[in-house]
Amino acid sequence: MLVPVIMAGGMGTRLWPVSREHYPKQFCALVGDTTMLQQTIGRLDGLDCAPPLTVCNEEHRFLAAEQLRQAGIENAPILLEPVGRNTAPAITLAALQAMAHGADPLLLVMPADHLIPDVPAFHRGVEEAKTLAEEGRLVTFGIVPTGPETGFGYIRRGEKIGETGFAVSGFEEKPDLATAKSYLKDGGYDWNSGMFVFRASVYLDAMQTHAPAILDACRTAIAGVESDAYFLRPERTAFEACPSDSIDYAVMEKTDRAAVVPLDAGWNDIGSWSAIWEAQDKDADGNALTGDVLQVASKNSIVSAQKRLVAIVGVEELVVVETADAVLVASRDAVQNVKEIVTQLRSAK
Ligand code: GDD
Ligand code: MG
Repeated sequence: MLVPVIMAGGMGTRLWPVSREHYPKQFCALVGDTTMLQQTIGRLDGLDCAPPLTVCNEEHRFLAAEQLRQAGIENAPILLEPVGRNTAPAITLAALQAMAHGADPLLLVMPADHLIPDVPAFHRGVEEAKTLAEEGRLVTFGIVPTGPETGFGYIRRGEKIGETGFAVSGFEEKPDLATAKSYLKDGGYDWNSGMFVFRASVYLDAMQTHAPAILDACRTAIAGVESDAYFLRPERTAFEACPSDSIDYAVMEKTDRAAVVPLDAGWNDIGSWSAIWEAQDKDADGNALTGDVLQVASKNSIVSAQKRLVAIVGVEELVVVETADAVLVASRDAVQNVKEIVTQLRSAK
């Protein structure tokens, strides 16, 4: 049986001021009418799988539960992290929980902040990934790079395995710009999509080899798990003591069991305002306008208005995001730095 693990514990700081500490991006409707979490759940329709196991921060439990319910998922387990320790511990908690009753299912790990327009292509990819995962591989989905992005992991394809998959002969998480450019020129690299399929025990074995301190802390936290209806609370002190790391640095860069399945499904990581602009419908001048917005002689801009009328005149490549209590104005090529505003806001608290 395939158990979907939904990772919904990130902060989404580059999407301020819509994404907030108390209401991070995965719980927001950024593209389309439903939230990123609900779109992630919707993508499971038609796959033969168990109810999803969602992992998020304690603070967001009611948001997660309510949005899951609206998406037709009731009473499925939600693992609540007392603090964020990044994705390696989050997935370790989920793998241990999934094995709690002696089972050893395949896990389909899905971040709750991606867009995948071509769902049938995604399902075909999952089927192929399952076959490789059953052979003991840690499988990720590879996306053909469209530019030298430094916010993604890069996978070097090795020998062909299975129908469409490849062994991974190299994995580098978030290279610098020069390295990313050299990978693009080389041509033998895919982006890591950040979605994974593996058997729970195979992932935990890899954690034992490459990140034993994380595994130990998560084992103790899960041994002391408290359940409150469908909310599962790992033991706080043990989890607070867990080192923080991503699955990519902790395991994927180090393991020799990685495999990649190419995915051509229009995948998009909704990480910044520029990524949202790319994913949205645009007017004839390339503007993506949401809410009460007027534009004159403007090009390739994104404007989102929640509470007031917003007008732009004679601007290009601009981002304007208006909410009840904050307005962002940014150049489209500087949107990665929006997170620094959140850092300033936090230090001013
Ligand atoms: N439960 C939980 N707890 N979820 C978390 C935590 C945590 O502490 N930290 C992050 N997440 C969730 C985020 O909400 C997101 O859905 C997912 O895990 C991935 O985390 P990101 O922080 O968005 O990672 P990234 O985008 O920088 O990098 C990853 O994804 C890229 C593709 O989007 C890596 O896997 C890259 O290699 C990959 O290219
Ligand atoms: Mg991301």
